[in-house]
Amino acid sequence: MSGPRYWESTAPGAGRRAPRAWTTSDAPVLSLNGTWRFRLSPTAAGAGPRVPEPDFDDSGWDELRVPSHWVLEDVTVPWAAEPRLPAPRRDEHGPLYTNTAFPFPVDPPRVPQENPTGDHRLRFTLPPGWLDGRPDAVVLRFQGVDSCARVWLNGTELGWSTGSRLPFEFDVGTALREGTNVLAVRVHRWSAGSYLEDQDMWWLPGIFRDVELLHRPAGAVDDLRVSTGWDAATGTGRLRVDADRPGRVLVPELGVDVPVGTTLRLPEVEPWSAEVPRLYRGTLRTAHEAIDLVIGFRTVSIEDGRLLVNGSPVLLRGVNRHEHHPRRGRALDRATMLADVRAMKRAGVTAVRTSHYPPHPEFLRLCDEIGLWVVLECDLETHGFVYAGWEGNPVDDPAWAGALTDRVRRTVLRDRNSPSVLLWSLANESGSGSQFAALRALVDELDGERPVLYERDPTYRHSDLFALMYPSLEDLAAIGRRAEPAPAGVEPGSPDDVRRRGLPFLLVEYAHAMGNGPGSLAEYQRVLGSSDRFAGGFVWEWVDHGLTARDERGTEFTMHGADVAFRPTGGRFCLDGLLFADRTASPGLHELAAVYAPVGLAVEGTRVVVRNGHDVRDTAHVRFRWRVEADGRRVAEGDLAVPLLAPRARTAVELPEEARAAAQGARGEVWVTVTAHDREPPGWAPGGHVVGTGQGRLRSDPPRRRSGTAPEAGFDEHGALRRVFGIAVDGPRPDLWRAPTENDRGQGSRNTDAASWAAVGLDRLRHRVLDVVRGPRELLVTGRSAPAAQALALVWSLRWTLDADGLDLEFRAGFTGPWDDTPHGHHAVSPPRLGLRLGLPGGYRAVEWFGRGPGESYADSTTAALVGRYVADVDALQTPYPVPQENGNHVGTRSLVLTGPGLPTLHVDALDAGATFDFTARRWTSEDLERARHPQDLRDGGRVWLNLDVAQRGLGSASCGPALPERHRVPTVPAGLRLRLTASG
Ligand code: GAL
Repeated sequence: MSGPRYWESTAPGAGRRAPRAWTTSDAPVLSLNGTWRFRLSPTAAGAGPRVPEPDFDDSGWDELRVPSHWVLEDVTVPWAAEPRLPAPRRDEHGPLYTNTAFPFPVDPPRVPQENPTGDHRLRFTLPPGWLDGRPDAVVLRFQGVDSCARVWLNGTELGWSTGSRLPFEFDVGTALREGTNVLAVRVHRWSAGSYLEDQDMWWLPGIFRDVELLHRPAGAVDDLRVSTGWDAATGTGRLRVDADRPGRVLVPELGVDVPVGTTLRLPEVEPWSAEVPRLYRGTLRTAHEAIDLVIGFRTVSIEDGRLLVNGSPVLLRGVNRHEHHPRRGRALDRATMLADVRAMKRAGVTAVRTSHYPPHPEFLRLCDEIGLWVVLECDLETHGFVYAGWEGNPVDDPAWAGALTDRVRRTVLRDRNSPSVLLWSLANESGSGSQFAALRALVDELDGERPVLYERDPTYRHSDLFALMYPSLEDLAAIGRRAEPAPAGVEPGSPDDVRRRGLPFLLVEYAHAMGNGPGSLAEYQRVLGSSDRFAGGFVWEWVDHGLTARDERGTEFTMHGADVAFRPTGGRFCLDGLLFADRTASPGLHELAAVYAPVGLAVEGTRVVVRNGHDVRDTAHVRFRWRVEADGRRVAEGDLAVPLLAPRARTAVELPEEARAAAQGARGEVWVTVTAHDREPPGWAPGGHVVGTGQGRLRSDPPRRRSGTAPEAGFDEHGALRRVFGIAVDGPRPDLWRAPTENDRGQGSRNTDAASWAAVGLDRLRHRVLDVVRGPRELLVTGRSAPAAQALALVWSLRWTLDADGLDLEFRAGFTGPWDDTPHGHHAVSPPRLGLRLGLPGGYRAVEWFGRGPGESYADSTTAALVGRYVADVDALQTPYPVPQENGNHVGTRSLVLTGPGLPTLHVDALDAGATFDFTARRWTSEDLERARHPQDLRDGGRVWLNLDVAQRGLGSASCGPALPERHRVPTVPAGLRLRLTASG
C-alpha cells in the first residue's frame, strides 16, 4: 500500500476513505486519546519492521500522551548526546521555529535522511457489539497528524497520509478484532507534505489532534451537506440538506420534517451572523442514527464591488489566529479554544482568519455558537521556495496536483456546513502558479456558495477579493478610492487590473503585534470605515507562539526561535500576538478592544455623537452612561438617553443638564466620559461589558501652583541636582533613547530606526555642562549632550527656580548638527524620546497620576487610555514583554505623585495650562532593558528611574509593516517642558 519512501512522494496518501463533513451523532465513538507507547528513531525506518505486530514488545518504550507533539513532551532521543532532557529541548531534537525558511534543504519532494520518526503504539479494548461483519462498520479517524503518518491495525497496514491540519480516515475492515487490538502509527517529522506547510510557526511533529474509532450503523450516512440562504427582502430562509443515503431532516423549531434532498423556503426565519449567531438545531435521521444539524441561515455575496452578508455590507473586525498553547503547541484543548473565542468577543472581534490551516473542528463549532465570521484557510503555504527564486514551487508544478487538490477537498468538505465560514482562502504566501485555477474550480464545485480568496497572486484571477498585507495608511486609503497602483507585473489598464479594481478589498494582515505595539490601530480603523470597498481587516496576530521552557536555574520563561540551538531560525518573530503566550492580554489587545468597540462615542462640546457600528444589530441591547470627573475625581454620573439606533446609524444627543451643571460646579480639569454597556451579560462577558467609550474635556481652570515643604535643593559643581526635599537624586539628565521595541528594530534592513540609534550612539550620550549661572533663587545650567564620534548634539538648558514651597524646572532643548543627514547611511536619525531622566531612591513604591491610563500608552496608541486619575505600584507599571523592550509609557500626564514608606511624597506637575508630559518609572534603566534577553534578566537596581518626557515616539508596526508615520516621531526641533516639583510628608 505504501510504496518505498512514500514520505517523499508527492501523492497525499493511500488507503484513506473519501473526505467528508465533520459531524456529531448518537452513534458510538471510542476515543483513542490517552497514554500510548512511543519510540523515537533517527530515520524514516523508525523502530523497525516488527513495530506494527501486535506481539511486538514495547514495554521498554516511553509513555506519551496523545494528542501531543513529541518535541514538547519528555521523551528519549536515543541517538542524542543527551538522550533525555526536560521538555521542551532546546536543541535540534526539540521544537524548531522558522519564519519563511524550510528547516531542510530545498530539494522537493525529498527530505533529509535525518528524519526523526516517532513510532506510536496503543493497545486498546474494543467495546462489545462493535463488530457486525460489515467492512465499513468501523472507521478510524485522525483529526490531525504532523507531518506524515503510516497506520497499522493489528499488523495490517491501513494506509498513510499527509496534510497535517486535516483529518483522514480508514475503514478498519477485518483488521479490527473483538477484545484487545493494537494500533501502530509511524509519524515522520519531515515529508513531501512539509514543503506545503511552511507557515511561520514552530515545526511540531506528532499526533496532535484526536484519534477516534467511529461505529457506523448499517446504512449510515457518510457525507452530508447543509446548504442555506437568507433573503433580506422577505426574511425567507432557504434550507436543503443533502446526503449520500436516504434519511429525514427534522428541525422541530421550524416544523420541518422532510426527506433528505428537499429544498425548503421557510418564511420568517432569523438569519445567522457573528453579531447574532442564531442557530436552529436539527437532526438528520436515518434508520439507526441521529446526526446533529447545526443550521444558520445566511447568504454571502459580492455585489457592486462590496462583500455582503444577507444583503448588507460587513466590515470584519478581525484577527489572525494560529493554534497555539505554550506547553501543548497545536494540541489545543477545548477550554483553550473557548477561552480564545470568548476573549475575541470581549475585544469586539467579529472575524477570525484561521491562519494558515483549518483549525480543530471544535473551534468552528464554537464560532458557530458564539458568533465569529471565519475566513477558513486551507493547509497550504510554500513560502520557503522564495529562497530558490520560486523554482520548483509545488503550486506551479502538475506533479503536486493530487496533493494540492487533496488538501482543498478535505478542507471544504470538512467545514462547508459551518455557518460561521464566510470565505475560503486557498493558501497563504505560496507565490503564484498554474495549479490555482484548478484549486479555485474545485472549491466552486464543492461549495459554490462562498467567495474564494487568494492574496499572493498579483493577478487576483482566482480570487473574488483583492487582498494585501501590511499596506501603509496612505496605500490603504488609495485602495478605498479604488485608485491603487496596479500590482507589480500587472499592466495598468489590463483586464486583470480592471477586474481587480472592481473587487472588494480584505486586509488579510495588518498591525503586526510583535513586542510593544501595534500602533495606529485607530487610524487603520478610520480608513477601513471610509469606503464600502473595505470588507475589513485582520490584525496579525492573536497570540504569541512562545513556548514555556526553563533556564539553567530552573526559572520558567517564554522561549522563542533563537533560544533553540538550531539554524535557520525565525528568532523572535513568533512573538507577535495581541496576547502573551500564556494568554494574558498585552496592552495591544486593550487598544484593539477600544478601537473595535462596536459603539462609537465622541464628545463634541456638550454633544455626544453616537454611532452604531454593528453591521446587523440595533442598539436595543445597549445602555449608555455618563460620568463627570474633575482632575480625575468623580463628581457626578448618570444614564444617557440615546434613541434606538439602527445598524450603522448615527445620532447626536446633548449631555443631560445634570452633567453640564456638575461640570460648571467643579474645579480643575473637568472631563466627561460616556460609555455604552451590554444590558444583559452576553454569555462571553460579565454584566455591564463595555461596548463603547468616548471622552471630552468640558472645561478647565488654569493649573494651580501646588505648595509643599521648603525645597532645600543641593546641586553639585556642574549644576546637577543631588538632593531635593532631603531625597538623594541622580539627574535629571537629558535623555534621547529608549530600549528598542521590535517595531523600532524593523525587519531585516527595512525601517530599522533602532539601527540608526545604535550607529550614532543615542544610547551612550556624553554630557557637557557649558555654564552654570547661580542667582539668589535661581540656577541656570546649559549643556550639550552628544554621542562619541558624532557631530550631532542636543543643546539644552535647565532653569531651576526655588520658592518657599516648591521648585520650578524649565527644560529647553534644541538639536544641532546632521540629524537629518548623518554620514552613516541612515539619512535621518529620529530619536525615540526627548526628555529628562531622574534617578530616585528605590524606596518609592507607588505612582499616582492624572493623565491617560490605566495601561500604557504611546503617541499612536491612546484609544484605550482614558484621561483619569490612576494609582499603580512601580512594579505593576512594567509590561513583561517576553523580549524586554521599552514599555510602560503614559502620554498626556498632567501630574504625578510618588510615594514610598519613610520617603517624602514627591509631586511633579506640568506648569502650563494644557501642557502634558510622558512618563515611565522603572527599577532598571533603559540600558538594562535593552541588555536583558528575557524578563528574568531584569534586576531591581536599587533606584527608581523616572523619565519625564516632552515626547516619546509612537509604536507603529514596522517589525513587519510600514515605517512609523512622521507624525508619530519626535521632531528634531526646539522643544521644552515646564514642571513644578513639590514635596509633602
Ligand atoms: C505574513 C505571514 C504570516 C506572518 C506575518 C509576520 O507575511 O502571512 O504568516 O509571517 O507575515 O509575522
